[in-house]
Amino acid sequence: MYRRQFLLKSAVLTLAATNLRCSSATSLTGPEEASSKKKKHRVAIIGCGRMGQYYAEVYRAMPDTELVAIAEWNPERRKVVGERFGVKALYRDVNSLLKDTVPDIAAVVTPSKYMKEAVIACAQSGVKGVSTDKPIAAKLADADAMVDACKKSGTVFAGGNLQRAKWDVQEAARRLHSGEWGKTIGTSVHGFGGEISGGGCQHLSILRLFTKTEVDEVIAWGSPLEALAPEKDDAGLIINGLFKLNSGLKTSVFGKKTPYSGVEVWTENALIRWNWASPQIYSGKDNSGARHEIDPNYAPFPWTDFFEKMQGTIPSTDSAPWYGDDYLISSIRSFIDAVEKGTELFISGHDLRQALEIAIACKLSAQLGNRPVKLPLQDRSLTLYPRPYRWLGGDVTNRPQSPEAAAGKKS
Ligand SMILES: NC(=O)c1ccc[n+]([C@@H]2O[C@H](COP(=O)([O-])OP(=O)(O)OC[C@H]3O[C@@H](n4cnc5c(N)ncnc54)[C@H](O)[C@@H]3O)[C@@H](O)[C@H]2O)c1
Repeated sequence: MYRRQFLLKSAVLTLAATNLRCSSATSLTGPEEASSKKKKHRVAIIGCGRMGQYYAEVYRAMPDTELVAIAEWNPERRKVVGERFGVKALYRDVNSLLKDTVPDIAAVVTPSKYMKEAVIACAQSGVKGVSTDKPIAAKLADADAMVDACKKSGTVFAGGNLQRAKWDVQEAARRLHSGEWGKTIGTSVHGFGGEISGGGCQHLSILRLFTKTEVDEVIAWGSPLEALAPEKDDAGLIINGLFKLNSGLKTSVFGKKTPYSGVEVWTENALIRWNWASPQIYSGKDNSGARHEIDPNYAPFPWTDFFEKMQGTIPSTDSAPWYGDDYLISSIRSFIDAVEKGTELFISGHDLRQALEIAIACKLSAQLGNRPVKLPLQDRSLTLYPRPYRWLGGDVTNRPQSPEAAAGKKS
């Protein structure tokens, strides 16, 4: 049994045993209230490849959303996903979709190059909430344009499948901010290399969440040298350095695993470690001075039934590890609440823009021979491309998804 499946099973058992301490921990609408709603949110998926299909499965499993339209460039995949999700309103692109129907919610899950056009078109046509995924863009000005367009139209602008939205990550952050473990005195980022704008978004958005602050200045070293060429995408670039936060705290940044690969925050009484799973908490010390790991007793994930329902429908593979986790569900639940009640998003488009900006500042500082770079960056034309798969999608980068996989029949 894969470790994630094991963890999932344990989570289910915990839920059964402890029964519902859930929504006391957050203001999220729980399954019962969602099931009792009379009107469902009408949802469109823009870009229905691997990730778009995952979004579609989550929305299909929710009691208060209904998939009404899909925009997908690839004609064969469009037909297949239409049949898979029972959606008849199928379009080639976002503009033809919006001409016919304005959904309440649009999930933009195209490759990153096409996100700007889709997000802005949705915002301008009266969609109540639009989400995007990582990385949000390559050029800072493009990310700004999306954030600004949504602000102007009053459209909720959500992030997507990021670990920042993970239920336990959100709870750890709330407890950290409440002072449960004392004052924060230090932070570090580990394994911040290889894909600083793609996967690195995860680290940066959790660092900002845990510290509740912005990065004010970046000093960075980059290797290998070829990866610092201006036109080179972020693949393979290893960044070591230091972030100065505007709270006065400093963050040590390690490009490789230490052996950890996430974010650490230490406080007067504890160490909080996010390492691509539920944050571990260490508090108190043994005779040798080593910290003890304690059971944080996180509130059970409230959407487990829906998550279980999805398990059979989604191929969980090593190449798609995100399928086995819960954070797209909590991301979408916080998005729905933000659309309905104006509550805070677990991950927003603004967060993704901030992450892109920090990643760009890292490469710039390294290119300039470790010169400190102040944020916000003045030059909004600065650009950092993600690796080609993220930027252009699988069809044009030699990793097309087969029709069988798009139909949900095999991974
Ligand atoms: N958050 C995460 O964990 C995570 C994981 C994987 C991918 N992603 C991101 O999700 C995005 C999509 O990745 P994917 O794995 O689904 O790629 P994919 O290639 O499997 O799917 C992209 C789909 O979008 C369609 N498309 C492209 N441009 C379009 C347009 N303008 N309008 C409509 N459809 C369009 C393609 O035909 C394709 O079916 C990328 O930005 C990637 O970085 C995020």
